Amino acid sequence: MIFYFSGTGNSRYAAERIGSMMDEKVIDMAKSHKDERFTFEVKDQEKIGFVFPVYYYGPPVIVKEFMTKLKISGNEDSYVFMVMTCGSSSGGADRYVSKILAEHGLEIKAFFSVLMVDNFIMGYDLSDEEDRENINKKAEERLDKIAKSILVKGVSDRKSSQFDQLLTSTVYPFYVRGRNTKKFFADERCISCYLCEEICPVQAIKMVDGRPVWVLNQCVHCVACINRCPVEAIQYGDATKKRRRYVHPSVGI
Ligand SMILES: Cc1cc2nc3c(=O)[nH]c(=O)nc-3n(C[C@H](O)[C@H](O)[C@H](O)COP(=O)(O)O)c2cc1C
Ligand code: SF4
Ligand code: SF4
Repeated sequence: MIFYFSGTGNSRYAAERIGSMMDEKVIDMAKSHKDERFTFEVKDQEKIGFVFPVYYYGPPVIVKEFMTKLKISGNEDSYVFMVMTCGSSSGGADRYVSKILAEHGLEIKAFFSVLMVDNFIMGYDLSDEEDRENINKKAEERLDKIAKSILVKGVSDRKSSQFDQLLTSTVYPFYVRGRNTKKFFADERCISCYLCEEICPVQAIKMVDGRPVWVLNQCVHCVACINRCPVEAIQYGDATKKRRRYVHPSVGI
């Protein structure tokens, strides 16, 4: 059983690629969260995985919340692993998440991070097509290596340093406290397709008179709405107006 969360498709692709090599089903944490389904049962010896992106050297808030509510039964002998996708570094996110899961009865046996295309469009312009192809190709090789390790119940190939953990404890609280939606808007290119409302994992967007309105003060900042709008109408202040959009090639519209 592999739980995943994904804004722009990297982590979903990672979960599905690993899941298909292990013959394990994948479960969307955002959907389970929306349906308020937090109770799961695993079969004897079934492996349990968590796959999600790194935000500010920590987990997306929706992942953190899901983990604190999660109740799994039948997992006494389960091998538990975690795969984080990131643009450059996962910092001390491994230890941060391990602690949360340990408090809820799940001991992480292996942690892996995978470099994928950075989707943090609020921060900087995203890589060009050529770079993306190279990054995704390397990511596929890394994912296959990880899946092979998981199949034989392998251990982490990298653990965070004290410096990494310091990064998480310094930077991650800015994300948790921030994440405001004030700067989001849709410009005149909006074609009222309703996609942004449909894909937002926390229902922060409601369509009013055919245009999106951000109705929550905070959201996950998963950047799915900005990157997936088919006409690039969604902006975050002035920062995103001229920046390239990104979705993993496996994501349809
Ligand atoms: C709000 C936000 C914060 C991010 N912070 C980090 C970070 O701390 N370190 C990093 O390497 N990548 C960071 N990224 C990049 C993502 O982790 C990376 O692109 C990830 O693969 C996206 O996964 P997804 O397509 O499944 O949403 C951040 C992205 C967003 C949107
Ligand atoms: S996804 Fe873009 S075009 Fe579609 S409703 Fe939202 S802002 Fe408008
Ligand atoms: S409003 Fe946009 S960035 Fe915020 S959680 Fe919803 S889809 Fe993600």
